Amino acid sequence: TTTADGPSDALSNALSNAVIRRSTQRRYLMCPPTHFDVVYSINPWMNPAKPTDQPIAAAQWQRIHDQLVDLGHTVDVIPPAPGLPDMVFAANGATVWGDRALVARFRHTERDAESTAYLDWFADRGLHVQQASTANEGEGDYLSAGPWLLAGSGFRTDRRAHLESEQYFDRPVIGLTLVDDRYYHLDTALAVLDDETVMYYPDAFTSGSQAILRELFPTAIIATAEDAGVFALNAVSDGLHVLMPAGSTGLVAKLREAGFVPIGLDVSELLRAGGGVKCCVLELHGPAGRR
Ligand code: ARG
Repeated sequence: TTTADGPSDALSNALSNAVIRRSTQRRYLMCPPTHFDVVYSINPWMNPAKPTDQPIAAAQWQRIHDQLVDLGHTVDVIPPAPGLPDMVFAANGATVWGDRALVARFRHTERDAESTAYLDWFADRGLHVQQASTANEGEGDYLSAGPWLLAGSGFRTDRRAHLESEQYFDRPVIGLTLVDDRYYHLDTALAVLDDETVMYYPDAFTSGSQAILRELFPTAIIATAEDAGVFALNAVSDGLHVLMPAGSTGLVAKLREAGFVPIGLDVSELLRAGGGVKCCVLELHGPAGRR
């Protein structure tokens, strides 16, 4: 016999707490690691004395690419240029919103020439293009969250670049200051999961920036030193699926509990250059980007 009673209290509580996550279709830009190598050191992860394995890097990159395509996203590919071993980290090439691209001005001369490749690529596709006038490392330091553009500084992007981005995109910029040189780009310490939700490692930020993050994102997922240390925050989210470097257990459990679907990917070879999943993926944000 069936009972006419409704679900138990425990079950109805669980149902009302459950958040339904949805993915939205995205457009991304990636650059194959054809010329990937570690021949200079511009962050604490890079040791030119340790050999890299290009075929392994290529296979790890391909997994990221194919996983995004399998999830139904569009992935454009920019041709890699010889002599630019860090060009695989496409997230740093620009910040893109709608039909406007603000192309990077790299902090280190070793990466200078990448800017030209991105300027040409976006101009060829009819976007409004401008190169940043002070150090600005694109989506490495700029992450779009709802109405805001979260903007990192401290190691790479110059604070003055934040104002330029605010004016160029006509969107409010929230400046966040990084303090730990292992987490030198915003995208190594914080990931945007959906318009209201981020995950981050508090100790990578000044106490003032931590206070801003607590205020803006009361439901944020907080990562530990261990999560940050395996680069787990260098993640790409489509609102449901979270592609992230494999190796964190705590953070994966918290993501599942919050209704996300974490997908761990091996990026051991890319990590030798201080890059993970998000570093390889530039999101072409906004309505025009999603055409
Ligand atoms: N070797 C590169 C650099 O130091 C890695 C860039 C990683 N990119 C990123 N979006 N965090 O510039």
